[in-house]
Amino acid sequence: MRMSTAGRLLSAAFVTAAFIGTGSGAGADLAGRPIWQYHASMMILAFLCLLSAAYLAVFRPRRYWLRWHRMMGLSGAGLALLGAVVAGYMVSASSGKHMAYPHSWIGLLVAAMLVLTPSLGLAQFHFRHWASRIRPIHRWSGRLTIVLMALNMLAGLRLIGLL
Ligand code: HEM
Ligand code: HEM
Repeated sequence: MRMSTAGRLLSAAFVTAAFIGTGSGAGADLAGRPIWQYHASMMILAFLCLLSAAYLAVFRPRRYWLRWHRMMGLSGAGLALLGAVVAGYMVSASSGKHMAYPHSWIGLLVAAMLVLTPSLGLAQFHFRHWASRIRPIHRWSGRLTIVLMALNMLAGLRLIGLL
């Protein structure tokens, strides 16, 4: 299968980072690969889903924006929550010291926001009386979640020595 330029760049970056090595939970392996690579890949994919959800909500192309926004939002949140579970496993399998870095605290906050934001998104349709109040909160929690997640990805890349 041919790999895109972005795919090649990402693999090269991951291979480089695997050689750099750090003192953090990045030390543990699964099936011959450092576990952080699974964690990071899931987070990057989740982030792309959430970005496309936000794009759809801002530009609202054609009739189906809401259906796709909901699907991309829920998939991105689900994948990121799984990625956070993988992070917990990774730390248990290495240093055993959970919540040892600012990346981990922000990660936990982002995970909580990834439960709150889609719940608020869905709540707009279940509690119609409250919809006009819920809507701006959902919009702002969505924007904040995406910004915090982007910053935390940079913090994660610092932890593995790529930045
Ligand atoms: C490219 C992106 C990312 C990379 C390279 C990365 C890397 C890492 C690494 C190396 C650790 C282990 C730290 C340690 O030894 O304690 C870690 C932990 C963690 N990461 Fe990430 N991460 C990324 C994105 C994210 C994102 C977006 C979240 C948000 C949900 C997140 C949530 C967590 C959490 C909650 C932990 C702590 C687990 C624990 O202490 O039990 N990560 N990450
Ligand atoms: C983590 C998942 C989600 C994120 C990050 C997210 C993010 C966002 C953002 C950033 C906006 C505002 C765009 C803007 O105007 O700047 C928005 C709007 C909206 N979202 Fe979500 N969303 C998520 C899940 C959902 C779900 C599951 C639903 C359920 C159908 C939903 C329904 C809506 C609706 C109806 C709007 C338009 C609100 C309005 O008219 O002001 N969202 N979302």
